[in-house]
Amino acid sequence: MFTPDPLIAAAAIARTRAFAPYSNFAVGAALEAEGGALVMGCNVESASYGLTLCAERVAIVKGVSEGHRRFRRVVVVTDTDRPTPPCGACRQLLWEFAPDAEVVLANLRGVILKYTVAELLPAGFDAGNLGRRA
Ligand code: THU
Repeated sequence: MFTPDPLIAAAAIARTRAFAPYSNFAVGAALEAEGGALVMGCNVESASYGLTLCAERVAIVKGVSEGHRRFRRVVVVTDTDRPTPPCGACRQLLWEFAPDAEVVLANLRGVILKYTVAELLPAGFDAGNLGRRA
């Protein structure tokens, strides 16, 4: 895949590492951390199905465990006609760790859609909602 955007290229590489023998749906993600570091992730499926981890969440937890707390760009790459939007669980973690990020959804043929995290998850729940408990 040709792309001048290194984050899209990284997500496309991550996609080739997907472990998706049950769905055969390979997803790659790449994050740019606030300090400029690049973090890659792919979906990792489980024989129990329900334990499957999406590429976006793999990238986020990898990044956080490596000391990054905020991400400013997120790319998701799939080999589909329409680029793939993040699932609800991934949107929640994006809201918490990448609230101001640009989310770029791309396919291998260069179709690109761009969103903000707030567009994908309006009125998201986060630490700010835990302030006052009964
Ligand atoms: N998947 C992702 O990794 N990210 C998405 O944005 C959508 C879905 C994965 C989970 C599962 O391994 C496969 O795609 C089919 O749902």
